[in-house]
Amino acid sequence: MPAAPRTLRPAQQGDLDTLVELGRRSWLSAFAQTAPFTLIEWWARTNRVRTLFAANWPQMLLCCQADEILGLAQPAQDEVNGLWVHPAHQGAGVGSQLLAAAEAEIAREGNRVAWLTCSAWNPRALAFYAARGYVETGRTRCVHASGVEVEEIRMERRLR
Ligand SMILES: CC(C)(COP(=O)(O)OP(=O)(O)OC[C@H]1O[C@@H](n2cnc3c(N)ncnc32)[C@H](O)[C@@H]1OP(=O)(O)O)[C@@H](O)C(=O)NCCC(=O)NCCS
Repeated sequence: MPAAPRTLRPAQQGDLDTLVELGRRSWLSAFAQTAPFTLIEWWARTNRVRTLFAANWPQMLLCCQADEILGLAQPAQDEVNGLWVHPAHQGAGVGSQLLAAAEAEIAREGNRVAWLTCSAWNPRALAFYAARGYVETGRTRCVHASGVEVEEIRMERRLR
């Protein structure tokens, strides 16, 4: 039987637990091998994904297949403020589809440029964005709440 088509829809409150699980797995897939353990320990102890997602789920756009949620994007004004694909579904076009949908929403709101920030400890995502037209426009270093010094890279893309 052919696979069910992938669809996009806004998040609903009832999705929250599933989204938190997806966000945790996706975050670990990006950072478990690269971020300092102090930061990973802080992230787990403070239940960071639940706190963020409980506040932000109304902005989220989901990519689904049948009843399964594969990934999410969070456009916020002109920012792509989050792009998370479950590791089981990475490398299959879900992130590209969600990024394009987030950019379309940002453009519909009248913005000509989309921007995002990405951690220097996330080289795969940096390459993903660069391959999709994002260029670095700045770097900031600061001491994170965990006590670890972090570097965030700002990237922008002009929208058509
Ligand atoms: C980065 C991410 C959003 C890309 O989504 P995706 O669905 O895997 O990407 P797609 O299948 O649409 O595209 C694959 C591309 O992503 C790159 N990629 C990045 N991480 C990847 C991964 N874990 N597995 C496979 N491909 C990955 C591939 O190299 C490929 O690049 P190319 O097409 O330019 O050659 C996704 O891998 C992810 O959620 N990673 C963990 C969380 C994260 O880093 N989020 C971004 C925070 S700023």
